[in-house]
Amino acid sequence: MCGVFGIVFAENRSDLGEYLVKASRKLVYRGYDSAGFATIKTDGSTQLKKGPGKLETVIEQFHIQKMSGSRGIVQLRWATFGEPTEANSQPHYDSDGDIIGAHNGNIVNTSSLIEAFKRDGYTVRSQNDGEMVVHAFEKYFNETKDPLLSMQKAQTMLKGDYAFIVGHQHDNHLLAVKKGSSLYVGIGKDFIACSSDLASLLQFTNKIVDIHDGEMIYYNHEHYQLYDLFSGAKIEREPYLSPIKVEEANLEGFAHYMKKEIHEQIIKTRELTELLNHDPHTLDETSKILSKANRIFIVASGTSYHASLIGSYYLNHIARLKTQVVIAGQFNEYYGHLVDNNDVVFCVSQSGETKDVVNVINPIRDQKLCPIISMVNIIGSSIAHKSDITLNIAAGVETSVPATKTFMNQILLFLYLSAYIAKQTGAPEAEEVFSIIGTIPELIAKTIEQDEEPCQALADTVISKAHDLYCLGYGLNYGSAMEGALKIKEVYYRHCEGMYSSEFKHGPLSIVEEGYPILFPASPSESGMVISHINEITVRKGFVVLISPYDEGYARNANSYIITPNCHHYLTPFANVVCMQLIAYFSSVLSGYDPDFPRNISKTLTVD
Ligand code: F6R
Repeated sequence: MCGVFGIVFAENRSDLGEYLVKASRKLVYRGYDSAGFATIKTDGSTQLKKGPGKLETVIEQFHIQKMSGSRGIVQLRWATFGEPTEANSQPHYDSDGDIIGAHNGNIVNTSSLIEAFKRDGYTVRSQNDGEMVVHAFEKYFNETKDPLLSMQKAQTMLKGDYAFIVGHQHDNHLLAVKKGSSLYVGIGKDFIACSSDLASLLQFTNKIVDIHDGEMIYYNHEHYQLYDLFSGAKIEREPYLSPIKVEEANLEGFAHYMKKEIHEQIIKTRELTELLNHDPHTLDETSKILSKANRIFIVASGTSYHASLIGSYYLNHIARLKTQVVIAGQFNEYYGHLVDNNDVVFCVSQSGETKDVVNVINPIRDQKLCPIISMVNIIGSSIAHKSDITLNIAAGVETSVPATKTFMNQILLFLYLSAYIAKQTGAPEAEEVFSIIGTIPELIAKTIEQDEEPCQALADTVISKAHDLYCLGYGLNYGSAMEGALKIKEVYYRHCEGMYSSEFKHGPLSIVEEGYPILFPASPSESGMVISHINEITVRKGFVVLISPYDEGYARNANSYIITPNCHHYLTPFANVVCMQLIAYFSSVLSGYDPDFPRNISKTLTVD
C-alpha cells in the first residue's frame, strides 16, 4: 500500500534521483499502482514526474535517476481516492506550485474537501486525497508562513489517518507528520530522511529516530526537531542504532519471489525454531499474560487470520487456553465494548501496519483496557510499537505480495507458544509437541520434493480449467482450506471459497455438478468426519481433490489425492498449506499472470 519517502541534503546532488529510486524500490513490496518523484533545488526550482504503471517503467520513462536537487520526495500510490492516473498520482503541487507534498493514508472527507477547496478558489487538479493534505497545508501556510503552525491547523480539516511529507520551494527543510500511518526517521552522514517503511531507510542508515503518532518532524540535512502535532510543543528524542538488517531481494534463480519464498519456508522455519529455543524471555512473558487471561481474542486479517485459526486450535488443544479468533475489521463492532482488563488482545499481522488491526489496538491502548500482545514480521512496525509484548516471526523480507513464509512462521510460532505454555502447566503433550517441532523444516522440504510436480499437474489439468471452486477444511485444517482459497483467489483471479466442511451441505452443496472441483486439505486423524463430507460431494459427481498424509479411507473416497509426507496431526497444516501455495502458484503462472504482484492487491494495507 502507498509509501512515501522524503530526503534532505545540504547542497544540490546529481545523485538525488538515485537515492529516490533506491528508496522507491524498497516500497514496491507494499503494493502500488502509480509512482511519483519530486525534487527541489537550492534555488527553489522544482521538478515533478509521475504516472501510473510499474515503477521501473515510470523510472525509465522520466529518467528519474538523472533528477537532481537538495530535497526529494517519492511516493508509491495504491489507488483509493481517484483512479490510477497521472493526475491522481502523488506527490502534488499546491495551487501556486511552490509547495510539494505526498501522503500515505486515507483522508476520508476527501470529497467534501475537494468541493470546499474548489469553492475557495484553490487549483484542484485531481480526485486524490493526498492533494487535499497539500491544500490544507497551503491554506494555513498562505496565512501564517509558518510550516509547523500550518500543519497544526491543517490537521483539524483532515479526517483520517496519514503520514505526510511536504516541502516549500524556498526553505531547506521538509516537514513530515505521523498521524495513524507508519513513519520512520533516519539520520545519515550528510542527510536526514523520513519514510513510511523502515527498510527503505535502513539501506542508507541504521541511525533511527522514533516518531510517534500525533507528532511532526521538521528537518534539514543535519538537524531535526520533533513537535507535538496538536499543541506544537517541542519533543526531544535521541536517535538509536537499529539492529535490523535489510535483506536484499534477489530471485536466486527462481522465476518468481512467490516460488522462492515457498522454498524458503524450509530455512525460515528452522531459523525461527532456533531463535525460540535460544530466547525464551518473550515466550515467558507472553505465557504469563495468556495463562492469567479470562478471554483471549486473537485479532487478524487475511492470511494472518487464517494462521490465527490454526493457532487458536493449537492454543485450545495443547495449551488448553480458551481463545477466540476475530477478523480485525469486525472486532470493534462486535467485541470492542466488551473488552475489560481480564482479557488479552493478541494481534497477528506480518506487516505490523494493517489498519484494521491498528483500529483494534488504538482504543484499547488509549484506555489501557487490557494487555496487547502482537505477532509481527516487521519488528519496528506500528503494531509492534503499540503492543505490550511483541513476538517476532523472523521470516525475513517477503517480497511477493501473497504471504507464504510469513504464514508458515506464524503457525510455527503459535505451535511453539502452545507447547511452551503446556510445559509450564505440566500438560502431558508438551514434550511430544516440542519433539515434532524440530521436524517441520524437513517436512516442508519433503513436501516440496514429492508434491511440487503433482501440484503443478493438478493446476494444469483441473484448476486451470476451473472458473469457480471451493476449498473445504475440517478441524485443524479449516485454516489450511481458508488460506488455500485465499491464495487461489489472490494470484489466479478465480472465485474460490474456503469453508468449514460441515457447513457445505447447508446450501453451497447445490452448486455441485459433474466435475465441480473441491480441494480438501485434511488430516488422517479426522478421517471419519472428512470422508462423510467428501461423500456428500462425490455422490453428486463433484470432483474432490484430497490433500493429506496417506490414509486408506481417503484414497478410496477421493477422486484425486495429493499425498503429503506422513506427519503428526498437528503438523498437517504445514504440509497441506505448502501444497495449496504451490497449486495457487502454478495456476497463476500457467494462466500467464504474475503471482508476485496480483492486480488490485497491496501487501501493507494501511487504509480502512
Ligand atoms: C494474502 C495477504 C493478505 C494479508 C492481510 C493482512 O496473501 O497477504 O491477506 O495477510 O492483508 O496483512 P498483515 O498480516 O500484514 O496484517
